[in-house]
Amino acid sequence: MTSTLTHADKTGLYETRIDELLAEMTLTEKVGQLTQFSGFHDVTGPAPAEWRAAQKHHLLQNGLIGSMLNVVGVEAVRNYQKFAVENSRLGIPMMFAYDVIHGQKTMCPIPLAEAASWDLNLIRKSARVAAIEAAAQGLNWTFAPMVDVSREPRWGRVMEGAGEDPYLGSRIAEARVKGFQGDNLSANDTILATIKHFAAYGFAEAGKEYNTAEIGTTTLHNMVLPPFDAALKNANPRSVMNAFNTVNGIPGTGDAALQRDWLKGNQKFDGVVVSDWGSALEMIAHGFVADEREAAKVAILAGSDIDMESYVYLDHLENLVESGEVDEAVIDDAVRRVLRVKFELGLFDDPYRYIDSEREQTRLFTESHLNTALAMARKSIVLLKNERGALPLSADKKIALIGALAVDQDAPLGNWRADADAHSAMSIMDGFDEAGLDYVYSYGVTVQLGDSHFEYPVHVNYENRDGFDEAVAIARDMDQVVLVVGETARMSGEGRSRADIGLPGLQQELLEAIHAVNPNIVLIVMSGRPLVLSWADANVPAIVQVWHLGHRSGGAITDVLTGKENPSGKLPMSFPRSVGQIPIYYNHLNTGRPGPRDEVTWAHYSDEKNSPLYAFGHGLSYTWFEYSDLTTRLEIDHVDVSFRVKNAGHRDGEEVAQLYIRDRVASIARPVKELKGFEKVHLSAGETKRIHLKLKGDELGFFNTQGNFVIEQGEFDVFVGGTSDAPLHTMFNLSDEHIMSFGAK
Ligand code: GLC
Repeated sequence: MTSTLTHADKTGLYETRIDELLAEMTLTEKVGQLTQFSGFHDVTGPAPAEWRAAQKHHLLQNGLIGSMLNVVGVEAVRNYQKFAVENSRLGIPMMFAYDVIHGQKTMCPIPLAEAASWDLNLIRKSARVAAIEAAAQGLNWTFAPMVDVSREPRWGRVMEGAGEDPYLGSRIAEARVKGFQGDNLSANDTILATIKHFAAYGFAEAGKEYNTAEIGTTTLHNMVLPPFDAALKNANPRSVMNAFNTVNGIPGTGDAALQRDWLKGNQKFDGVVVSDWGSALEMIAHGFVADEREAAKVAILAGSDIDMESYVYLDHLENLVESGEVDEAVIDDAVRRVLRVKFELGLFDDPYRYIDSEREQTRLFTESHLNTALAMARKSIVLLKNERGALPLSADKKIALIGALAVDQDAPLGNWRADADAHSAMSIMDGFDEAGLDYVYSYGVTVQLGDSHFEYPVHVNYENRDGFDEAVAIARDMDQVVLVVGETARMSGEGRSRADIGLPGLQQELLEAIHAVNPNIVLIVMSGRPLVLSWADANVPAIVQVWHLGHRSGGAITDVLTGKENPSGKLPMSFPRSVGQIPIYYNHLNTGRPGPRDEVTWAHYSDEKNSPLYAFGHGLSYTWFEYSDLTTRLEIDHVDVSFRVKNAGHRDGEEVAQLYIRDRVASIARPVKELKGFEKVHLSAGETKRIHLKLKGDELGFFNTQGNFVIEQGEFDVFVGGTSDAPLHTMFNLSDEHIMSFGAK
């Protein structure tokens, strides 16, 4: 195909060729295109029955399968692709997918950490690096970004998303899809992006993995769907993955209202929907279908195009068509979507486009990619507390570096680590050594028993105190303690929900024992989720949230602790004071009895505050910023919000200036605050900048109980600042005339 063809020409040509192919394909070949098998490079779901292996091999060898996941490496991909191209009647190439969540070989920070950077360009660059490396290993499809909004730090997969806010989540979804897909999907360093999980997986009740999600229409449309909507409108992801969980009693894979009506109808999505691992079959366990045949029927009719590792399409679709229960046109629509993205990837031009040993040798784990990982990690670190000049560290103080996680080269890689080598990250100790810091190290306590790399259920250490006394003794003798606590990689991620999100194992006991002999503690929290840090907040002068930061974790953390990097991260999720407050989130409704009141009949706990320990959007710097001169001006198609930010300190720094609104009165109760704009700015010491942010119809409207987008007249509060507790406030009144000029969505 000549490259001078325009996109429209190509699309037209694709559709013609798809029609021709479809006309030639047998029903068996069509069903094969809708079946996705897992290879054996990684295990990301429950293994199928033993006898399936032989069947899979036979079908793959005869080129009868449309795509695979968990096949990694040029040689492995080449072998399977050769089967498809050379052994099958029509030679339709396969796609090869993998969970490239925050890197392929080079690990950048986990997505929740990247979200804390609020740096959209860097987030896009991080996804770009992941795509280049994944494509160099023969892959052309990632099951990322996960765009599930979640208020549930007990849920292990919050590490994989962008936190609790739909606006921040939308901007990050756009950035990540663009990073993965680039400007030309047929290039050999771009891959299909998948926005997932469709939908509301992040609202699993009580944060229990795979649990029921019970949300109303307005939460679905105003909180859950916006990142999907934004990505579809502004970044064109070519794949959507549905969800295991039910919403309103309907499992995602069988949800026609979501997949057919909203996604393929309303959004006009013409890419491909892939089920989650085994999720079609799991509709039996949900009690939503009676058997595998019905699972196949319900899933295909609901718009789930590809069946990942359920085998129900393979076993039953042909019979469903032959019996007339499923019209072949439904199959053809699904196959068309699969063929379309294969054309867009350039696989019909060259099935071996992504298979090049030289690229595999030269494009992985490069210095440039590691530098991106370092830059991303530096910007993802959140300074939660810093008092009594605890940070940056003073060169003249004797430092005790304590904690098993301080030397852990595996935890920073996170749970979804694709093809990263185990134990290959830069630890904090490595960072201290590279920076030439003088310190004494002590292990303290093991966080988990066994090798922290392996996938097995984690055995938290509650009994081995071997290093406890030595750590306390060393802490006593030093001026300053840098204590590293938190979670290993396998304590968050899929299947890793926790009912108690305090410091795992003996770490809290160690913290308190060290504090008793030396309260000058800088607490470094390495985790895949918000943890409950209330005791620490009440007792230690400095707390730094470092998440799981990928391969250059230790360097980035050291740069922040020494002041070489001025921290600029802001929380993408609220940190609770206690697990009993969860779900706790900033964009909550006011209730009919907001407090505080001097009697008990108002919305509160008798044993806990209502506020989070650290709010959404919170993050400190080694300097400080002042906001002033906030004004709004109603323009033809937007409200201009203008304000000044001053770096009032003595160090250069970056600030994420955040804009929140409150729609005071509307046809449904609206949140007390909603993020509707932000800008990350660099300010030299003493420098002031005027910032202008726009509030357009998209930001001022909402979806009502019928799922319709409306903008309603009335008074709006406006808040700006460096956190959702934004102090600077004004308001404006939106008239119907303004709305007319805005033009509702
Ligand atoms: C997993 C996850 C999904 C992933 C898929 C393939 O169970 O839910 O996010 O992409 O299976 O590994």
